Amino acid sequence: MKIITAETAAAASKEAFNIIADRMQHHQLHVLGLATGSTPCGLYRLLCASRLDFRQVTSVNLDEYVGLQPTDPQSYHYFMQVHLFRAKPFKESFFPDGTNLDAAAVAKEYDQVLAAHPVDLQVLGIGQNGHIGFNEPGTPFTSRTHRVVLTPSTIAANARFFARPDEVPRAAYTMGIASIMAAKQVLLMAFGAQKAPAIRQAVKGPVTPAVPASVLQRHPNVTLILDRAAASQL
Ligand code: F6R
Repeated sequence: MKIITAETAAAASKEAFNIIADRMQHHQLHVLGLATGSTPCGLYRLLCASRLDFRQVTSVNLDEYVGLQPTDPQSYHYFMQVHLFRAKPFKESFFPDGTNLDAAAVAKEYDQVLAAHPVDLQVLGIGQNGHIGFNEPGTPFTSRTHRVVLTPSTIAANARFFARPDEVPRAAYTMGIASIMAAKQVLLMAFGAQKAPAIRQAVKGPVTPAVPASVLQRHPNVTLILDRAAASQL
């Protein structure tokens, strides 16, 4: 694992931006894997303000809540529109279909999307419990796209984006761990002291499904981009 530690989240976001810009300039980025949440927002602001043109690039998102329409302001589809796609349209953008309650059909369809569009670079955040995507502790490393029931800690962490905690959806569709590991390159960003224990376990702990991000120790091309606080327990 390569680890870049910057002083602040803003400086770390610039490091991530520079890596993506370099891949774009070398015409090596055809499929970009995207994450939602607070961590990549600084990166997305830099992408929006840049001169990079994504109209020949396909995007695939890690996950989507079950039961929300793409037009729902809480959906990850909507999040990406607001934070990136309005300013930077892509050739095409894929999400697991949160409007389809047939989990097996959604999983099959999204696995086909991922097989047809192998990810060149996947942007990742990490949960305080070490989750990546919505792959909570205990998820098998062999998992592909699947439906998850969110853990109480993830519901609590995501409640900040909703008016009331009971509005947070209880289930999501997510790329699996094997789907994430199939990306040619992974950029995992983590900011703030609350992420420091998960980063320590992911980097220095055993590779175990109890800490989903620890699987990245087995990936040949991972860069962790941390601020000082997230790196404080390494
Ligand atoms: C989002 C996702 C999640 C987040 C993680 C960290 O698409 O897949 O794994 O990356 O929950 O969230 P933030 O960045 O809000 O701390």
